[in-house]
Amino acid sequence: MLEDLSQHVLDIAENSTAAGATEITVEINEDEAMNVLSMIVEDDGRGMPPEFLDRVTDPFTTTRTTRRVGMGLPFLKQSAELCGGKLILRSKPGEGTRTEATFSYDSIDRPPMGDIPATVTALFMGHPEINWKYIHRVNGMEFSLSTEEIVEALEDRELLRSAEVGLWIRDQIKESLEEIKGKAR
Ligand SMILES: Nc1ncnc2c1ncn2[C@@H]1O[C@H](COP(=O)(O)OP(=O)(O)OP(=O)(O)O)[C@@H](O)[C@H]1O
Ligand SMILES: [Mg+2]
Repeated sequence: MLEDLSQHVLDIAENSTAAGATEITVEINEDEAMNVLSMIVEDDGRGMPPEFLDRVTDPFTTTRTTRRVGMGLPFLKQSAELCGGKLILRSKPGEGTRTEATFSYDSIDRPPMGDIPATVTALFMGHPEINWKYIHRVNGMEFSLSTEEIVEALEDRELLRSAEVGLWIRDQIKESLEEIKGKAR
């Protein structure tokens, strides 16, 4: 596989922004004892009808007109299944979508996590109008950060676009992940 997991997170979260979501939760769980790594993106976007949902992991389904083949979900499904996991999609038109991909933590085929701090920062900064929530658990330890709490501290949502705040967010996530990983092992 060419992609690392953070690129898959970016892709499924961008599906949520494209679906007109106003609230998006990105959750990553790393559990070595259970031998599971899962990534969940939940949104309140337009959702997908059941008949579409059945076909969406097929590489020849997409609503995009500029490109005939949407590859995000089929590729993620293939990647998860190759690593002893699966792709679980739940969606309701007008309500939202939950996309979950699981992987065997110790699978030798599992792509590396990649740069999650940079990915989450790119999502926060790229779509500051969305209420983002990011939760990351490592062996029972948890870290979370929401744009709501950042905006509350800054008192200005537009500042989410500034490079300075972006750097702060990235470093905050990076340090907190290192901290929980240190404690969890
Ligand atoms: N969270 C979501 N909410 C609503 N529709 C979704 C969601 N995720 C996926 N879809 C629908 O499924 C289609 C396929 O998604 P997929 O990520 O596989 O491809 P894509 O986004 O169209 O293209 P690519 O990811 O390759 O740029 C999307 O075009 C969209 O219609
Ligand atoms: Mg996509």
